[in-house]
Amino acid sequence: MSNRLSIFAPAKINLYLRVGEKLPDGYHRLETVFQAIDLFDQLVFDLKESHEKGKIIIQVSPGPQSHLIPTDKSNLAYRAAKLFFDKTKLSNQDLKITISKKIPVSGGLAGGSTNAAATLYALNYLLGEPLKQDDILLLCKELGSDVPFCYLGGCMLGTGRGDQLTRLTVARELVFVVVFPPADQELSTKDVYATFDTIEARGHNEVNIEKFVEALLTKGEISKLMYNSLEEAAVSLSYWVDRAKSTLDANGYSSLVSGSGPTVFTVAPNEHQAHSLIKKLEKEGLRAGIHRAIDNSFQVIAH
Ligand code: C5P
Repeated sequence: MSNRLSIFAPAKINLYLRVGEKLPDGYHRLETVFQAIDLFDQLVFDLKESHEKGKIIIQVSPGPQSHLIPTDKSNLAYRAAKLFFDKTKLSNQDLKITISKKIPVSGGLAGGSTNAAATLYALNYLLGEPLKQDDILLLCKELGSDVPFCYLGGCMLGTGRGDQLTRLTVARELVFVVVFPPADQELSTKDVYATFDTIEARGHNEVNIEKFVEALLTKGEISKLMYNSLEEAAVSLSYWVDRAKSTLDANGYSSLVSGSGPTVFTVAPNEHQAHSLIKKLEKEGLRAGIHRAIDNSFQVIAH
Protein backbone atom coordinates (compact mmCIF):
# COMPACT_ATOMS: atom_id res chain seq x y z
CA MET A 1 0.00 0.00 0.00
CA SER A 2 1.24 3.50 -0.86
CA ASN A 3 2.37 5.47 2.17
CA ARG A 4 2.35 8.96 0.67
CA LEU A 5 -0.66 11.10 -0.15
CA SER A 6 -0.90 14.67 -1.38
CA ILE A 7 -4.10 16.61 -0.74
CA PHE A 8 -5.32 20.01 -1.86
CA ALA A 9 -7.58 21.20 0.97
CA PRO A 10 -10.01 24.04 0.14
CA ALA A 11 -10.90 27.22 2.01
CA LYS A 12 -14.49 28.11 2.87
CA ILE A 13 -16.46 31.30 2.99
CA ASN A 14 -19.72 31.91 4.87
CA LEU A 15 -22.34 33.35 2.53
CA TYR A 16 -24.66 33.86 5.52
CA LEU A 17 -23.88 33.68 9.25
CA ARG A 18 -26.35 34.48 11.98
CA VAL A 19 -25.03 34.10 15.52
CA GLY A 20 -27.67 33.28 18.11
CA GLU A 21 -27.56 32.82 21.87
CA LYS A 22 -24.59 31.61 23.88
CA LEU A 23 -24.94 27.95 24.85
CA PRO A 24 -23.96 26.55 28.28
CA ASP A 25 -20.66 25.25 26.81
CA GLY A 26 -19.65 28.82 25.83
CA TYR A 27 -20.29 28.28 22.12
CA HIS A 28 -22.98 30.17 20.20
CA ARG A 29 -25.91 28.78 18.28
CA LEU A 30 -25.35 29.42 14.56
CA GLU A 31 -27.27 29.45 11.31
CA THR A 32 -24.84 29.56 8.45
CA VAL A 33 -24.33 28.76 4.78
CA PHE A 34 -20.83 27.44 4.11
CA GLN A 35 -19.35 27.42 0.62
CA ALA A 36 -16.07 25.72 -0.35
CA ILE A 37 -13.96 27.71 -2.84
CA ASP A 38 -11.06 26.92 -5.15
CA LEU A 39 -8.35 28.31 -2.89
CA PHE A 40 -6.23 25.46 -1.55
CA ASP A 41 -3.50 24.60 0.94
CA GLN A 42 -1.41 21.63 -0.15
CA LEU A 43 -0.62 18.93 2.43
CA VAL A 44 1.70 16.00 1.80
CA PHE A 45 1.41 13.06 4.22
CA ASP A 46 4.26 10.56 4.62
CA LEU A 47 3.57 7.57 6.82
CA LYS A 48 6.11 4.98 7.95
CA GLU A 49 5.53 2.05 10.27
CA SER A 50 7.49 2.33 13.51
CA HIS A 51 8.52 -0.33 16.05
CA GLU A 52 7.42 1.88 18.93
CA LYS A 53 4.90 4.70 19.42
CA GLY A 54 5.37 6.88 16.34
CA LYS A 55 6.19 10.59 16.03
CA ILE A 56 4.10 13.27 14.36
CA ILE A 57 6.19 15.91 12.60
CA ILE A 58 4.73 19.05 11.04
CA GLN A 59 6.84 20.80 8.46
CA VAL A 60 5.81 24.10 6.85
CA SER A 61 7.09 25.03 3.37
CA PRO A 62 8.70 28.48 3.22
CA GLY A 63 6.21 31.24 2.36
CA PRO A 64 4.95 34.65 3.50
CA GLN A 65 2.90 33.12 6.32
CA SER A 66 5.12 30.21 7.36
CA HIS A 67 6.28 31.95 10.58
CA LEU A 68 2.62 32.13 11.71
CA ILE A 69 2.03 28.38 11.58
CA PRO A 70 2.82 26.35 14.69
CA THR A 71 4.67 23.08 14.14
CA ASP A 72 3.96 21.75 17.64
CA LYS A 73 0.96 20.14 19.35
CA SER A 74 -1.10 23.30 18.94
CA ASN A 75 -1.32 22.85 15.17
CA LEU A 76 -4.83 21.58 14.37
CA ALA A 77 -3.44 19.07 11.85
CA TYR A 78 -1.20 17.65 14.61
CA ARG A 79 -4.23 17.40 16.93
CA ALA A 80 -6.23 15.68 14.17
CA ALA A 81 -3.47 13.10 13.64
CA LYS A 82 -3.14 12.45 17.39
CA LEU A 83 -6.91 12.02 17.73
CA PHE A 84 -6.99 9.62 14.78
CA PHE A 85 -4.13 7.48 16.16
CA ASP A 86 -5.71 7.41 19.67
CA LYS A 87 -9.12 6.47 18.32
CA THR A 88 -7.87 3.72 15.98
CA LYS A 89 -5.02 2.55 18.29
CA LEU A 90 -2.76 2.62 15.23
CA SER A 91 -0.13 4.83 16.85
CA ASN A 92 2.90 2.74 15.76
CA GLN A 93 3.34 5.08 12.79
CA ASP A 94 5.77 7.92 12.07
CA LEU A 95 3.87 10.66 10.28
CA LYS A 96 5.31 13.70 8.53
CA ILE A 97 2.87 16.37 7.31
CA THR A 98 4.30 19.02 4.97
CA ILE A 99 2.00 22.03 4.68
CA SER A 100 2.22 24.61 1.87
CA LYS A 101 -0.03 27.48 2.91
CA LYS A 102 -2.07 29.51 0.43
CA ILE A 103 -5.11 30.15 2.66
CA PRO A 104 -4.57 33.18 4.95
CA VAL A 105 -3.88 32.19 8.57
CA SER A 106 -6.61 33.34 11.04
CA GLY A 107 -8.45 34.88 8.10
CA GLY A 108 -12.00 33.53 8.52
CA LEU A 109 -11.49 31.03 5.68
CA ALA A 110 -11.08 27.88 7.86
CA GLY A 111 -7.42 27.39 6.92
CA GLY A 112 -6.59 25.43 10.09
CA SER A 113 -9.86 23.47 10.01
CA THR A 114 -9.37 22.33 6.42
CA ASN A 115 -5.85 21.13 7.28
CA ALA A 116 -7.31 19.08 10.17
CA ALA A 117 -10.06 17.60 7.98
CA ALA A 118 -7.50 16.68 5.29
CA THR A 119 -5.33 14.96 7.93
CA LEU A 120 -8.22 12.71 9.02
CA TYR A 121 -9.01 11.90 5.38
CA ALA A 122 -5.36 11.11 4.55
CA LEU A 123 -4.74 8.87 7.56
CA ASN A 124 -7.95 6.94 7.01
CA TYR A 125 -7.02 6.43 3.35
CA LEU A 126 -3.38 5.46 3.99
CA LEU A 127 -4.28 3.03 6.78
CA GLY A 128 -6.92 1.12 4.80
CA GLU A 129 -10.05 2.97 6.00
CA PRO A 130 -10.34 1.79 9.60
CA LEU A 131 -13.01 4.47 10.26
CA LYS A 132 -16.35 5.01 8.55
CA GLN A 133 -17.40 8.52 7.49
CA ASP A 134 -19.73 8.95 10.50
CA ASP A 135 -16.86 8.15 12.92
CA ILE A 136 -14.62 10.62 11.12
CA LEU A 137 -17.28 13.33 11.35
CA LEU A 138 -17.41 12.81 15.13
CA LEU A 139 -13.65 13.38 15.30
CA CYS A 140 -14.09 16.47 13.08
CA LYS A 141 -16.64 17.90 15.58
CA GLU A 142 -14.19 17.35 18.44
CA LEU A 143 -11.54 19.36 16.58
CA GLY A 144 -13.66 22.45 15.82
CA SER A 145 -16.98 23.79 14.58
CA ASP A 146 -15.84 24.27 10.95
CA VAL A 147 -13.99 20.96 10.60
CA PRO A 148 -17.05 18.77 9.69
CA PHE A 149 -17.93 21.16 6.86
CA CYS A 150 -14.33 21.16 5.63
CA TYR A 151 -14.43 17.36 5.45
CA LEU A 152 -17.64 17.34 3.36
CA GLY A 153 -17.21 20.49 1.25
CA GLY A 154 -19.49 21.93 -1.43
CA CYS A 155 -22.28 24.15 -0.12
CA MET A 156 -23.97 23.36 3.19
CA LEU A 157 -26.43 24.74 5.64
CA GLY A 158 -24.91 24.60 9.14
CA THR A 159 -26.85 24.77 12.41
CA GLY A 160 -26.05 23.92 16.06
CA ARG A 161 -22.47 25.14 16.56
CA GLY A 162 -22.18 25.14 12.76
CA ASP A 163 -21.48 21.41 12.84
CA GLN A 164 -24.96 20.02 12.01
CA LEU A 165 -24.90 19.99 8.26
CA THR A 166 -27.35 19.66 5.37
CA ARG A 167 -26.08 19.72 1.80
CA LEU A 168 -27.41 22.42 -0.53
CA THR A 169 -27.29 21.65 -4.25
CA VAL A 170 -26.57 24.97 -5.91
CA ALA A 171 -27.15 24.72 -9.65
CA ARG A 172 -25.27 27.82 -10.71
CA GLU A 173 -21.72 29.08 -10.98
CA LEU A 174 -20.66 31.49 -8.27
CA VAL A 175 -17.62 33.69 -8.85
CA PHE A 176 -16.21 35.56 -5.88
CA VAL A 177 -13.66 38.32 -5.56
CA VAL A 178 -11.86 37.60 -2.30
CA VAL A 179 -9.93 40.48 -0.69
CA PHE A 180 -7.02 39.15 1.34
CA PRO A 181 -5.91 40.85 4.56
CA PRO A 182 -2.28 41.96 4.97
CA ALA A 183 -0.13 39.72 7.17
CA ASP A 184 -0.54 41.78 10.35
CA GLN A 185 -4.35 41.76 10.37
CA GLU A 186 -5.15 38.20 11.56
CA LEU A 187 -8.17 37.98 13.89
CA SER A 188 -8.66 35.38 16.58
CA THR A 189 -12.10 33.73 16.27
CA LYS A 190 -12.39 33.67 20.06
CA ASP A 191 -11.73 37.44 20.29
CA VAL A 192 -14.30 38.21 17.59
CA TYR A 193 -17.01 36.19 19.37
CA ALA A 194 -16.07 37.80 22.70
CA THR A 195 -16.39 41.28 21.11
CA PHE A 196 -19.71 40.25 19.53
CA ASP A 197 -20.98 39.43 23.04
CA THR A 198 -20.15 42.95 24.23
CA ILE A 199 -21.94 44.81 21.41
CA GLU A 200 -25.31 45.83 22.79
CA ALA A 201 -27.11 47.55 19.92
CA ARG A 202 -26.38 45.14 17.11
CA GLY A 203 -27.31 45.93 13.50
CA HIS A 204 -30.68 44.44 12.63
CA ASN A 205 -31.15 42.17 9.64
CA GLU A 206 -34.48 41.33 8.05
CA VAL A 207 -33.22 38.48 5.90
CA ASN A 208 -33.65 35.14 7.58
CA ILE A 209 -31.69 32.09 6.50
CA GLU A 210 -34.69 30.49 4.76
CA LYS A 211 -35.04 33.55 2.52
CA PHE A 212 -31.31 33.50 1.79
CA VAL A 213 -31.27 29.79 0.93
CA GLU A 214 -34.32 30.19 -1.30
CA ALA A 215 -32.59 32.95 -3.29
CA LEU A 216 -29.44 30.84 -3.54
CA LEU A 217 -31.28 27.77 -4.81
CA THR A 218 -33.58 29.63 -7.21
CA LYS A 219 -30.73 31.61 -8.80
CA GLY A 220 -32.03 34.84 -7.24
CA GLU A 221 -29.81 37.82 -6.48
CA ILE A 222 -27.82 36.92 -3.34
CA SER A 223 -25.28 39.71 -2.89
CA LYS A 224 -27.71 42.04 -1.11
CA LEU A 225 -29.08 39.20 1.05
CA MET A 226 -25.72 38.00 2.37
CA TYR A 227 -25.31 38.61 6.09
CA ASN A 228 -22.81 38.07 8.89
CA SER A 229 -23.60 38.84 12.56
CA LEU A 230 -19.86 38.94 13.34
CA GLU A 231 -19.08 41.69 10.84
CA GLU A 232 -19.55 44.55 13.30
CA ALA A 233 -17.20 42.91 15.80
CA ALA A 234 -14.60 42.24 13.06
CA VAL A 235 -14.80 45.89 11.92
CA SER A 236 -14.31 47.10 15.48
CA LEU A 237 -11.18 44.93 15.84
CA SER A 238 -9.60 45.62 12.44
CA TYR A 239 -9.48 48.98 10.62
CA TRP A 240 -8.56 47.02 7.49
CA VAL A 241 -12.00 45.35 7.29
CA ASP A 242 -13.71 48.73 7.13
CA ARG A 243 -11.25 49.88 4.48
CA ALA A 244 -11.79 46.79 2.29
CA LYS A 245 -15.59 47.04 2.61
CA SER A 246 -15.68 50.80 1.87
CA THR A 247 -13.52 50.34 -1.23
CA LEU A 248 -15.84 47.62 -2.56
CA ASP A 249 -18.84 49.77 -1.73
CA ALA A 250 -17.35 52.75 -3.61
CA ASN A 251 -17.05 50.45 -6.65
CA GLY A 252 -20.73 49.42 -6.40
CA TYR A 253 -20.25 46.01 -4.76
CA SER A 254 -21.96 44.72 -1.58
CA SER A 255 -19.42 42.82 0.48
CA LEU A 256 -19.25 40.54 3.49
CA VAL A 257 -16.68 39.43 6.03
CA SER A 258 -16.15 35.66 5.89
CA GLY A 259 -16.63 33.85 9.23
CA SER A 260 -14.92 35.81 11.99
CA GLY A 261 -12.88 37.76 9.40
CA PRO A 262 -10.93 39.67 8.45
CA THR A 263 -11.13 38.33 4.86
CA VAL A 264 -13.81 40.17 2.85
CA PHE A 265 -15.49 38.94 -0.34
CA THR A 266 -18.07 39.95 -2.90
CA VAL A 267 -20.02 38.09 -5.59
CA ALA A 268 -19.02 39.10 -9.13
CA PRO A 269 -21.61 38.99 -11.95
CA ASN A 270 -19.04 37.41 -14.28
CA GLU A 271 -15.33 36.81 -14.68
CA HIS A 272 -14.74 39.88 -16.86
CA GLN A 273 -16.15 42.21 -14.22
CA ALA A 274 -14.26 40.32 -11.52
CA HIS A 275 -10.97 41.07 -13.34
CA SER A 276 -11.77 44.74 -13.72
CA LEU A 277 -12.74 44.98 -10.02
CA ILE A 278 -9.44 43.36 -9.01
CA LYS A 279 -7.50 45.99 -11.01
CA LYS A 280 -9.40 48.76 -9.21
CA LEU A 281 -8.73 47.15 -5.81
CA GLU A 282 -5.04 46.79 -6.62
CA LYS A 283 -4.84 50.51 -7.41
CA GLU A 284 -6.15 51.10 -3.88
CA GLY A 285 -3.43 48.84 -2.47
CA LEU A 286 -5.73 45.86 -1.75
CA ARG A 287 -4.73 42.30 -2.73
CA ALA A 288 -7.57 40.25 -4.18
CA GLY A 289 -8.16 37.08 -6.19
CA ILE A 290 -10.95 35.43 -8.20
CA HIS A 291 -12.23 32.21 -6.62
CA ARG A 292 -15.10 29.96 -7.70
CA ALA A 293 -17.49 27.89 -5.63
CA ILE A 294 -16.67 24.17 -5.74
CA ASP A 295 -19.18 21.38 -5.10
CA ASN A 296 -16.81 19.03 -3.28
CA SER A 297 -13.89 19.16 -0.86
CA PHE A 298 -10.40 17.68 -1.26
CA GLN A 299 -8.46 17.00 -4.43
CA VAL A 300 -6.34 13.95 -3.76
CA ILE A 301 -3.17 12.76 -5.47
CA ALA A 302 -1.97 9.28 -4.49
CA HIS A 303 1.76 8.60 -5.06
O1 C5P B 1 -14.90 25.56 17.17
P1 C5P B 1 -13.68 26.40 17.10
O2 C5P B 1 -12.57 25.90 17.98
O3 C5P B 1 -13.23 26.67 15.69
O4 C5P B 1 -14.12 27.81 17.68
C1 C5P B 1 -13.19 28.82 18.04
C2 C5P B 1 -13.86 29.78 19.00
O5 C5P B 1 -14.95 30.45 18.34
C3 C5P B 1 -14.48 29.12 20.20
O6 C5P B 1 -13.54 28.98 21.24
C4 C5P B 1 -15.60 30.09 20.57
O7 C5P B 1 -15.06 31.17 21.31
C5 C5P B 1 -16.04 30.64 19.24
N1 C5P B 1 -17.23 29.95 18.68
C6 C5P B 1 -18.48 30.18 19.29
N2 C5P B 1 -19.60 29.55 18.77
C7 C5P B 1 -19.50 28.74 17.69
C8 C5P B 1 -18.26 28.52 17.05
C9 C5P B 1 -17.14 29.14 17.58
O8 C5P B 1 -18.59 30.92 20.27
N3 C5P B 1 -20.61 28.14 17.24
